Amino acid sequence: MFGAKGSGDTQAMLASVPLFSSLNKSQLRTMATTAKERTYPDGDTIVKQGDKGIGFYLILAGQARVERGGKQIASLGAGQYFGEMALLDEQPRSADVRAAGVVRCLVLSPWEFWAAVGDEPEVLRQLLKETVRRIRASPTGLTD
Ligand code: CMP
Repeated sequence: MFGAKGSGDTQAMLASVPLFSSLNKSQLRTMATTAKERTYPDGDTIVKQGDKGIGFYLILAGQARVERGGKQIASLGAGQYFGEMALLDEQPRSADVRAAGVVRCLVLSPWEFWAAVGDEPEVLRQLLKETVRRIRASPTGLTD
């Protein structure tokens, strides 16, 4: 499923992502047609800590490492996402996210993201829940 290509397949894949499970078909179709697919080679820095971040990334295939100060703090795989923190608070990226092997992502610009889910309380609730979990999981609370 996560290896799918084309906007129809992308829509089916989006429907299987828990974060987006409350969206209807038309919302998923809009998201699938506006988002861009990007492939990153092994070791590539997809987002860089401290950069002014734009964009929300959903992993379609492969694994990514989340690193702060050169130390791995999490590993993310297909169906998981990153880049939501800078999107939410409009502050610099809190960590590096690097490709661990080839990684394929669906990338949404902030305006595409907010147009798709800004009025969807269930998506926003889930996003907040995961963001708080990630902050709690960080030994520094992401303040350093
Ligand atoms: P952002 O700060 O925009 O860019 C770096 C991303 O790394 C961040 O959003 C989150 O998506 C991700 N991230 C940061 N901390 C964690 C964590 N503890 N677990 C999983 N992902 C994280």
